[in-house]
Amino acid sequence: MMTLRTSPEVGGMGHAVKRKEDPRFIRGQGRYVDDIELPGMLYLDIVRSPYAHATIKNIDAAKALAIPGVLDVITGATLAKYNLHWMPTLMSDMQMVLPVEKVMYQAQEVAAVLATDRYSAADGVAAVEVTYEPLPVVVDPFKALEPGAPVLRTDKPGKTDNRIFHWEVGDKAATDRAFRDAAVTVKQDLYIPRIHVSSIETCGCVAQFDRVFGQLTVWMTTQAPHAIRTVFALVAGHVGLAEHKIRIISPDIGGGFGGKVPVYPGYVIAVAASVLTGKPVKWIEDRMENLQADSFARDYHITAELAAQRDGTLTALRIKTLADHGYTDAAANPSKFPAGLFHICTGSYDFRAAHVEVDGVYTNKPPGGIAYRCSFRVTEAVHTIERMVDIMAHELQMDPAEFRKKNFIAPEHFPYTSALGWEYDSGNYGAALELAMHKIGYAELRREQAEKRQRGELMGIGISSFTEIVGAGPSKHFDILGIKMFDSCEIRIHPTGKVIARFGTKSQGQGHETTYAQILAEELGIPVADIQVEEGDTDTAPYGLGTYASRSTPTAGAAAAIASRKIRDKARKIAAHLLEASEEDLEWEPGKFFVKGSPERSKTIQEITFAAYTNHPQGMEAGLEAVSYYDPPNLTFPFGSYICVVDIDTGTGEVKIRRFVAVDDCGNIINPMIVEGQIHGGLTMGLAPALFEEISYDEQGNIRQGSFMDYLLPTAMETPNWETDKTCTPSPHHPLGAKGIGESATVGAPAAIANAVVDALWHLGVRHIDIPITPEKVWQCLRASGVTDR
Ligand code: CDP
Repeated sequence: MMTLRTSPEVGGMGHAVKRKEDPRFIRGQGRYVDDIELPGMLYLDIVRSPYAHATIKNIDAAKALAIPGVLDVITGATLAKYNLHWMPTLMSDMQMVLPVEKVMYQAQEVAAVLATDRYSAADGVAAVEVTYEPLPVVVDPFKALEPGAPVLRTDKPGKTDNRIFHWEVGDKAATDRAFRDAAVTVKQDLYIPRIHVSSIETCGCVAQFDRVFGQLTVWMTTQAPHAIRTVFALVAGHVGLAEHKIRIISPDIGGGFGGKVPVYPGYVIAVAASVLTGKPVKWIEDRMENLQADSFARDYHITAELAAQRDGTLTALRIKTLADHGYTDAAANPSKFPAGLFHICTGSYDFRAAHVEVDGVYTNKPPGGIAYRCSFRVTEAVHTIERMVDIMAHELQMDPAEFRKKNFIAPEHFPYTSALGWEYDSGNYGAALELAMHKIGYAELRREQAEKRQRGELMGIGISSFTEIVGAGPSKHFDILGIKMFDSCEIRIHPTGKVIARFGTKSQGQGHETTYAQILAEELGIPVADIQVEEGDTDTAPYGLGTYASRSTPTAGAAAAIASRKIRDKARKIAAHLLEASEEDLEWEPGKFFVKGSPERSKTIQEITFAAYTNHPQGMEAGLEAVSYYDPPNLTFPFGSYICVVDIDTGTGEVKIRRFVAVDDCGNIINPMIVEGQIHGGLTMGLAPALFEEISYDEQGNIRQGSFMDYLLPTAMETPNWETDKTCTPSPHHPLGAKGIGESATVGAPAAIANAVVDALWHLGVRHIDIPITPEKVWQCLRASGVTDR
């Protein structure tokens, strides 16, 4: 563990500083987009398609326009006049803002009603009459690729099928050879279903176009304000919206989890409506729109194979995947990687050969591919490898913990280059697993399991020893729509020693106002209480790519350290001037410089700051400011070992999580309380898809889980007591030795739970159950194996 270098009053790294943002949040005084009220503001509501695929024959707005308060009905034809009816997705595909010809998924935006108040807008939506002619619907991605399947993207000239991309990585020949030579192989189909982020706050915006200054201001629920501003400028430059005339403000956000990275049509329509009317326009989704129409995560159909020697040494991994992206490829992936970072799927294991293929497919569903609390498909990768490793261990009749230990990348092999090309920065997987096993009492649990099995009781123990990959850049490999992935911090210290620090990222609840201040406190010795952190306003914050995929600490956190160090370098010069000493004779301890051997001859950072404006050396520029645009040399690779114990009701198939131990390693920790909070929330978000959450569609493309009545979120009742612990393996390349942590638990937890359930049922012949593992699926297994006849 790291040693603390600052006092609790200063509150640098490692202190459990209470969150600076919480007083306003817990008092209900946060300022969210829907809190913004402007004089003369108009309201927008959206007409949505009941059909998953249909031609629009007519839109009759007459009855809607007759409703008092309804001002206008905006259609695709309105936007087409300005060539704004289509826009690019973050993966350089195209998506409709409003359709002119046909709709491609149920709940797609068809028209927008502009009114003087929210209620008239909703009445207007109900009164718009749209005539549709249904078209054949393609829901199943396998059928979508069959010859003769209806081609969905007729807007793409020359497109003759529904394939979006074929992508592969790894050494196919070496992998095939390893499989031919293997003593044991296992193969499994896994489906990781569509899920939805369900953040507490839905999406929305207030767009205000000022005709006098030609300035557009948009308060919006976005995780990436700068990138969005650039996209707006690229899309609407031709109608006069240049980037310096656009200001995006991302105020407090009630959860993003990747769902607030894309640009949704509602944002663009609200902007268009404000430009057309010269009035501010508010659009806020309701809960059902958010659930049914916003971008989804996962939806990967995977066939995975492992090869091993008889002694349990893993040799090769082979994966083929069909990725259902819905009607457009709107995944928020780095451009170079159409399947995101899925090729981290060799996980924590030392494979000599691996090969992965992914095919992206269009279907009549809303856009998919967002990184739901996940670094661009790492959850899919981790679930696959951790399920497969467990299957192989059982097949070989080896203990899953021992099997993992045998195949882990050894600590001395870091930095380690994986068979699929990643360079892992640091790791000690055995230590994390050992700690988790010790904490849960693994050996004793295995004895109990054996006894219970004798009595016909079903108990399972599941392990997930995952490796994460977070912190995109480096910019030579990572960009979104051509914008290189780095992040930024700008620090200004005022004469009295108080600080304002601004960042290119954007917290959605992660506590950046506190943890970034702690980094500055660590580096400069200025108390956290004297540091104000700001994010989310493109007019004031330095350019950055935003917050998602646990990238804030690895990128902007590093920028905060580097910018602080630039300030310290200048402070040293000023201190030398004030102390009439040479720079080399000065020593730093957090908060002051002193003369080596004469600690009484010192200057505090506050004294130095004041001097930077009042008594700086001749020839030196005044002030104490710095900026860093940090381009990380590599990603960071946090990891962990989770162990879950389940008991299964033999009558109903209900899975009860008895214990869940999570050992995480994110290198050096800035705020242990915040990290624990991230892990608790993440574990609950991992429990959700493991046992409850799934979005599915019937053959006509109707969503089956269109409200929280059917889309099951775990509540406190279903959530077990999370037991957490940590190991600390610093990142060698991060200036603070820190790795990201925001999503580790969401990524690692589902496999531990699924592995525990299958471990309980393996002796009954059960090899795999797809998540969510509902009581019904388990009950079907119990019935098939004769455990229950009820
Ligand atoms: O990008 P995002 O903020 O979602 O993820 P993150 O960088 O993993 O950080 C999540 C929260 O945990 C932030 O407040 C971080 O500063 C904090 N954290 C920490 O205190 N120590 C770490 N080693 C990693 C993150």
